[in-house]
Amino acid sequence: MIQVNNLSFSYTKQPFISGMSFSVSHGEIFGFLGPSGAGKSTLQKILIGMITAYQGSAMVNGVECKKRTKDFYEDIGVDFEFSTMYEKLTAKENLQFFSSLYEKKSRSIEELLEMVGLDRDGDKRVSDYSKGMKSRLNFIKALLHDPLLLCLDEPTSGLDPTNSRMMKDMILAEKAKGKTILLTTHNMQDAAELCDRVAFIVGGKICALDSPHSLIMSKGAAAVTYTWLENGEHSANCPIDRISSDERLKGLISENRLQSIHSGEPTLNDIFMDITGRTLV
Ligand SMILES: Nc1ncnc2c1ncn2[C@@H]1O[C@H](COP(=O)(O)OP(=O)(O)O)[C@@H](O)[C@H]1O
Ligand SMILES: [Mg+2]
Repeated sequence: MIQVNNLSFSYTKQPFISGMSFSVSHGEIFGFLGPSGAGKSTLQKILIGMITAYQGSAMVNGVECKKRTKDFYEDIGVDFEFSTMYEKLTAKENLQFFSSLYEKKSRSIEELLEMVGLDRDGDKRVSDYSKGMKSRLNFIKALLHDPLLLCLDEPTSGLDPTNSRMMKDMILAEKAKGKTILLTTHNMQDAAELCDRVAFIVGGKICALDSPHSLIMSKGAAAVTYTWLENGEHSANCPIDRISSDERLKGLISENRLQSIHSGEPTLNDIFMDITGRTLV
């Protein structure tokens, strides 16, 4: 669905995105994971044909993005990071307007509103919507023309746990229908839960690209963390495959001095920090 080859782009004289290559298959959820300012939204803007002054190649659905024509958008749905609705219009009026921009027949607006629990609010002005309601409305706007590719920019950002869960279930439902989904996020739990593969993006470069599971496994065995008292509480970590040679741990066990011990798998966030030396915030 997407092939990117040696892609570079700069807003100023400084390179902003440099030498990126990756591809995304049909039916895959592919995540761009990286801290604020890493270039995730910029990359999405290139892939949806909004930024055309790039070098290298970015092909989406067989079309070089900078050479897109209007029909390019018949198969692409975009949920931008910020609300793109007309605030003075009602939700239904917005959806009717945006659906009129496509050649394709629109999905049922009533059904879409119902799907996100907004069926009773369809006639309200968007200016009266809460942030969570706007997010859900933006999302169904991207689904109106039943596109093959969905581009979602921080779809769960700022949502409470209930709305976030609803959003993630809707994303998974679109995947189940065979859609390809491109997702940017700086939330590693969402990435680990939703994405078939993720690309870690820092400073406009891809630092790692694999399935969340493989990235987590690449760090090796899980570790145990244990605590003990000795002029206050102390804690230490030890990889689970090396506990038999941890002399301190052995001593604490034989003297019954352990306060606590638990094991944990590394998280995607740990891997991100390991590879990039940065946190995701
Ligand atoms: N039109 C622009 N002109 C110059 N710099 C820009 C422009 N748009 C974005 N940027 C730069 O890109 C950065 C944000 O990139 P973005 O792709 O939105 O990052 P992310 O989505 O990973 O947070 C900003 O910090 C800014 O420096
Ligand atoms: Mg962004």
